Amino acid sequence: MRIENKVIVITGGASGLGLATAQFMVNEKGARVAIFDLNVEAGVKAASDLGAEHAMFVQTDVSQEESVQKSVDAVMARFGAIHVCINGAALATGFKVLGKEGKAAPLSRFAQATAVNINGVFNVMAKCAEQMAKNEPEAGEERGVVINVSSGAAYEGQIGQCAYSASKAAIIGMNMPAARELGAIGVRVNAIAPGLFLTSMVAALDNKVLASLKEQMQAPMRLGDVREFAHCCAFIVENAYINGETIRLDGAARLRAK
Ligand SMILES: NC(=O)c1ccc[n+]([C@@H]2O[C@H](COP(=O)([O-])OP(=O)(O)OC[C@H]3O[C@@H](n4cnc5c(N)ncnc54)[C@H](O)[C@@H]3O)[C@@H](O)[C@H]2O)c1
Repeated sequence: MRIENKVIVITGGASGLGLATAQFMVNEKGARVAIFDLNVEAGVKAASDLGAEHAMFVQTDVSQEESVQKSVDAVMARFGAIHVCINGAALATGFKVLGKEGKAAPLSRFAQATAVNINGVFNVMAKCAEQMAKNEPEAGEERGVVINVSSGAAYEGQIGQCAYSASKAAIIGMNMPAARELGAIGVRVNAIAPGLFLTSMVAALDNKVLASLKEQMQAPMRLGDVREFAHCCAFIVENAYINGETIRLDGAARLRAK
């Protein structure tokens, strides 16, 4: 699908990988973007920096059905269509199965991660796909593209990442059935499993943890550049034959247990 003039919903678009993708899609590809994020201050700034003609921000909690429906309605009212949906909003929860003194982790902590990282992705994908179905097919076949953001943690989760890893693996699981089903209406579904990129989510990690992670980078021996993530999103949108796939974008890095 050509990106110019298309409307791209980006959840988590106020920060990190989502923000870099919004900037890349507007400034280098001529798209219009709708940023769905909880963070009002960062979201308003991101949209205003990109310019009102090309960007809008709607405060959204991806885990809430009504909130996402309102945001999708706002995009349809403003831009008239949704062609691409990039699901980047997530919580990077970290906690052990057994906490201090061997006490079991409360189920609510696990549920908090799955509510945003799994339910939120499905929620936004489904509501955007409903709108994509109304698009005129491009080149007779494509009405939309969904990109769900997984993580290398889906494959090699570290100690403390049970909830996060399980939620990111769920995205890989959703990929193929969604691609097979939505293919009937000309919508492709793919996932990206990033390695380590320097965003606020990663910068917030404990210094010791961050230093150990940096040591584990492989080839190239550095963290990912957020523009490399944005470029991968553009590649998926532009290549009509990539479908039901998860791309590991990690410079061949495989993290240790801790
Ligand atoms: N940064 C990395 O190295 C890395 C590695 C692997 C995977 N990822 C994944 O990439 C995606 C983006 O990560 P990032 O590093 O840019 O994170 P980030 O923390 O910079 O951005 C995440 C954004 O999601 C928003 N958000 C959180 N909960 C939300 C909710 N319920 N509704 C709407 N918005 C919500 C936050 O406000 C924030 O703006 C995430 O899915 C993350 O799991 C990141």
